[in-house]
This record gives sequence, C-alpha cells and structure tokens, in this order.
Amino acid sequence: MSDQTIRYEAADGVATITLNRPDVHNAMNEAMRRELLECFTGLAVGDDVRVIVVTGAGERAFSAGADIREFVEPQVPTRYRETRRRLDFRGVMDRCPQPIIAAIRGYAFGGGLELALACDIRIAGEDAQLGLTEVNLAIIPGGGGTQRLPRLVGRGKALEMILTGMRVGAAEALRIGLVERVVPPAEVLPAAQELAASLAAKAPVALRYAKEAVVKGLGLPLADGLRLENDLATLLRTTEDRLEGAKAFLEKRKPRFSGT
Ligand code: COA
Repeated sequence: MSDQTIRYEAADGVATITLNRPDVHNAMNEAMRRELLECFTGLAVGDDVRVIVVTGAGERAFSAGADIREFVEPQVPTRYRETRRRLDFRGVMDRCPQPIIAAIRGYAFGGGLELALACDIRIAGEDAQLGLTEVNLAIIPGGGGTQRLPRLVGRGKALEMILTGMRVGAAEALRIGLVERVVPPAEVLPAAQELAASLAAKAPVALRYAKEAVVKGLGLPLADGLRLENDLATLLRTTEDRLEGAKAFLEKRKPRFSGT
C-alpha cells in the first residue's frame, strides 16, 4: 500500500489508518481519496485485520474536509461525477466487514466528518469540533453527509447542521448521538485502540455478521431486515466458535476463537 497522504499500520488484528497531511489539518485531496480507496478495498477482502481505526495525524484535526485548493481548478461536471464515483471510499467502508472506529481529535469538518460518519463507532476528544460546513462554500456535502447524518442524528438536527454549516462541540455531539464516546484529547487514540483490541478478541464471523445485519438492515424495509438478521443468526449457529463460546462460559475460561 502506498504511504504518502495516509499512514497504515497493522498489529494483532487491528489496522490503524492515519490521515497524514497535518500541515493542512489533514484536508483530503485526490491523492488521499485514492489511497483511502486502495486501503479500504484491500481490507474489505482480507481476513487478517479484524478491526480498523481511522484517525488524523497531529493534535489539531481529524480532517478539515476536502482540500479547498482543489476547488479553484476548473470542473467538468461529468468528470467530477465520475471521479467521485470511482473514489467512493466511504461506500467501500460500508461494505468492509470489519468494524471501523473513528478516533477524532480537533476539527472534523465537511468530508472529514463524512469520513467519520462512514465509520461504525466514533470516539471524540473533548476538543473535537464537528460540522458539515460545505454550505459556507456554496456547495453541499457530497461524500454521503446528507444521507448518513440524518440516519444518526435525525432529520431536524441534520438539516440544522447542514443548512447552517454550524460547528458542534464534543459534548453536544455526544448528546445528539453524533459521537458515541467523549474522552480527554490525549486519550482518544488509546481509547479507540483499546476498544479495537477488545473487538478483535471476539469471534470474527459474529462481528462481521453483526455489522452486516445493522448496516445492510438500515437500508431495508423492517421485514426484510428481520429476515436478514434471522438468516445471519441461523448461520452463526453452525460455527465452531459458537461451540467454543458456550464451552468457555461453562468451563469458566476465556474463549479461544478460531474464526471458523
Ligand atoms: N483545504 C485546504 N487547506 C486547508 C483546509 C482545507 N479544507 N483547512 C485548512 N487548510 C489549511 C489552511 O489553508 C492553512 O494553510 P496555510 O498554513 O498554508 O495557510 C492550514 O491548513 C492551517 O489552517 P488555518 O486556517 O490557518 O488553521 P486555523 O486553526 O486558524 O483554522 C479551520 C482551522 C479548520 C477552522 C480552518 O482552516 C477552516 O475553516 N478550514 C476549512 C474547513 C472547511 O470548510 N472544510 C469543508 C470543505 S468542503
């Protein structure tokens, strides 16, 4: 994997992806989108990594969103649309079977917040500021924000945020369900990695099916979602790990899951 606008590390079943343009608050340029796409595409088909953490380099920002310097280049609508389609790394994140945790320090604006919205669990520092600020630049979110934000915080709060371009602090983000946990800034990455390690120790197929049931189910009518859940739950009744989980409980020991 290339190692320029992002850094990639993996150990003990946990991969950490770090947006690595701290001089511009980790703003996303086309190269970063391309590297993220490459990285998540590889992770989606691999078995070694069980949990993914996404964070930003430096102490001041997760990501300040799309690189505004690219906005002044002339745009051909069809080329712009096709490039966005080809570089839809957030769509690949939805299809990644592994849980993805965002570790957010400082600014998460525009495409940066949209990246966090495509993660499964968000841990924010007390210094975090989040917003879909695109409207201030006479554009709207184009990386899934208009769709993923209302699914998290509801229609009214999403519209308030998107129409005003307002910034939301960590405490408010926690209150409205935009992030799941708030911790002191220095503890953001350790907290995300601790959570990742605890998830990586669980039965991998159960983790994958749990994510699939929730993420796919959200896009389905209730009856179809319930059917999907039932199918996945039934499949999990056939695994070795399910027997190991039950035996370990009865024998009062830690389970040793094999992923089968
Ligand atoms: N794209 C390109 N460059 C960006 C950027 C972005 N989204 N966000 C910040 N930068 C650059 C700044 O231009 C500056 O570069 P310089 O040192 O060459 O002048 C550097 O990052 C530091 O940013 P600066 O504005 O000086 O830091 P700050 O702490 O005063 O403010 C922000 C930080 C995030 C509040 C401010 O940079 C900002 O509002 N950025 C734009 C956020 C945005 O609208 N994102 C949505 C894009 S659709």
